[in-house]
Amino acid sequence: MRNVHLIDHPLVQHKLTLMRQKSVSTSSFRRLLNELAALMTYEVTRDMPTHEVEIETPLEKMKGRMIDGKKLVFASILRAGTGILDGMLDVVPGARVGHIGLYRDPKTLQAVEYYFKMPQDIQERDVIVVDPMLATGNSAIAAIDRIRQLNPRSIKFVCLLTCPEGISALSAAHPDVPIYTAAIDRELNDHGYILPGLGDAGDRIFGTK
Ligand code: URA
Repeated sequence: MRNVHLIDHPLVQHKLTLMRQKSVSTSSFRRLLNELAALMTYEVTRDMPTHEVEIETPLEKMKGRMIDGKKLVFASILRAGTGILDGMLDVVPGARVGHIGLYRDPKTLQAVEYYFKMPQDIQERDVIVVDPMLATGNSAIAAIDRIRQLNPRSIKFVCLLTCPEGISALSAAHPDVPIYTAAIDRELNDHGYILPGLGDAGDRIFGTK
């Protein structure tokens, strides 16, 4: 699993464990997801290029380093990806945001696209695709297939949770796309849910069940 980055920082693991519990309220779930997303962004952007800038402290001039947040695109897979965006934008406020609307056909578990909007000049940008759950991998693969047609500079995929089936499917379809996750759970069940998982991420973020 060369391309999988497991983010096992104690703060990330602690917050994820809190979120998994079925007793956690919608507002707490959302707050924890925001906090986790911000923490995960530190790891995902670790290799981002920086450039030198000259600044002035109250005492003297110096050269510092800064990132170019405008070169980043966070591409959210609707609807659950939206739950991660705010936390990521807190850390990289200059990032552009793309949306891809996909739903899972409940019978086939295949991804069906209903919306697609990415920033212009994506060829000069690094894209980070976000979805809390990498389960069958169908949505992630469909989203990355589509984004790839626009020829971005690079693509990464970030999720909270995944399972061996999701990693195998995404790695087989897009071997060059690194996967960042806070946990690799045991398995996928027959309905496409991750076990032990945290349930339906969209329902838990938006309180729709
Ligand atoms: N999507 C979810 O929201 N939860 C899962 O366990 C799998 C896919």
